Amino acid sequence: MEAYVRNINETLFACDALIWPVFENKGENLYGAFSKSINEIINNVVSSKEFSGKHNEVCLIHTKGKIKPDRILLIGLGSQNELTRNRLRQAGGKATSYLRNLNMKELALSVSAFPSLKSSLVDFIEGSLLSDYSFARYKKEKHVKGIKKITILSGENLHKEIMWIKTAATAAHLARDLVNTPSNDMTPAALVRVARSLKKVSVRVLDKKQAEKLGMSAYLSVAQGASNPPKFIVITYKNKNVPPLALIGKSVTFDSGGISLKPSEGMEKMKYDMAGGAAVLGVIKAASEMNMPVHLIGILPAAENLPGGSAAKPGDVVKTIGGKTIEIISTDAEGRLALADAIEYVKRSKPSAIIDIATLTGACSIALGNEAIAMMGNDKLLMEKIKEASEETGERVWQMPLFEEYKDYIESDIADLKNSGGRNGSLVTAGYFLREFAGDTPWLHLDIAGTAWIDKDRPYIPKGATGIGVRLLLSFLKSFN
Ligand code: BES
Ligand code: MN
Ligand code: ZN
Repeated sequence: MEAYVRNINETLFACDALIWPVFENKGENLYGAFSKSINEIINNVVSSKEFSGKHNEVCLIHTKGKIKPDRILLIGLGSQNELTRNRLRQAGGKATSYLRNLNMKELALSVSAFPSLKSSLVDFIEGSLLSDYSFARYKKEKHVKGIKKITILSGENLHKEIMWIKTAATAAHLARDLVNTPSNDMTPAALVRVARSLKKVSVRVLDKKQAEKLGMSAYLSVAQGASNPPKFIVITYKNKNVPPLALIGKSVTFDSGGISLKPSEGMEKMKYDMAGGAAVLGVIKAASEMNMPVHLIGILPAAENLPGGSAAKPGDVVKTIGGKTIEIISTDAEGRLALADAIEYVKRSKPSAIIDIATLTGACSIALGNEAIAMMGNDKLLMEKIKEASEETGERVWQMPLFEEYKDYIESDIADLKNSGGRNGSLVTAGYFLREFAGDTPWLHLDIAGTAWIDKDRPYIPKGATGIGVRLLLSFLKSFN
């Protein structure tokens, strides 16, 4: 879907549908721009209470040749006092997906009813762009509906803003595609191919032998039971002469739990355990496309977690590249094993900060549902900046504590640490575990287990993979350094 801006009167722009945002109970004086006959139709649906402007309420009106647009879609914005940026995105998503389902192709957006703020327009369009997604790769009959273009009927210059939201949405869609792709196709080697397809970056891949030589046995233990070999992917994008910012994405292409096998019910969803890696790929793609002045190192320690004759077993002790030993209590706490090695590996590049993003714990979804990313870290400033990016993008984060007492939970009798502290506090003990490897380097952890996948459609996120993290981190990068 393309987005354009044109300074032209709503009545004169030919399209399948003209989207007309309306605040709740705004009466009938809003529709002045139209001819009398159209105003009458709109007034009728308002006075008959068929449409009142409640948030995300829609009403489709055929214009029968009275104006150039074939239809008008009224979309409710709710009450003006309660308007938020997320509500604007949702309204944009709702209006667009409604028209998309009716197979409309060319849309226009009227700005007459908008509060004059440029940013609300942009938020609405961002919702439109994000909603226009489907995953049809595995359907024989690909009856994919999709909007061709949306034209904003405005005299404002929105070029820069539209470029940004369009690039970010496309990157989020890439992340959604990767996560929705089942693990028989989205293997560690497939992630390598995606990384190599990015432009303006350099990619280095450590295979099993090379990772062994470096001593990353914690990471390698995750893939021991699988026949798809692990790939430790390092992507560098450098467009500024500063120490790098490290972005580490958990990239377990399938998490069966390994020998600590997960229950079979719902296990099919564990293809989404590489959503962190997908987000990192999305961020680097967008950052490089926009030539952002940043220096990034993306790490995807990709592996498949399966049981097997050579799989890691509970009780095994493994060692990270930095020399710390870990007792594996549960082979299902595999993400932190891979991340521990990734964190220590990237520390050798002396990063100014490390951000990891990972579908790390089931407890994350239990605590926050699908509504927020759990954030932990050792650096106040970094956390403040991520919170700002969260306000900016609507990708919500919620900070969790890392009290030093959590250290006891992951103390091992025979090794430096153990990889599971049991059920109590398992969201934060996972974070604490990673912190031990970050040491003094400014570090931040984003647990996206609850937000990377949804089972029900939302106004601007269709069910399945959400692409979470891409817009959050891009917005963060804007203000970083
Ligand atoms: N990938 C899972 C976490 C997860 C669960 C993500 C559900 C998305 C949905 C992770 O590897 C895991 O299994 N974590 C365990 C850790 C436990 C064994 C300490 C968990 O949270 O149950
Ligand atoms: Mn697991
Ligand atoms: Zn996992």
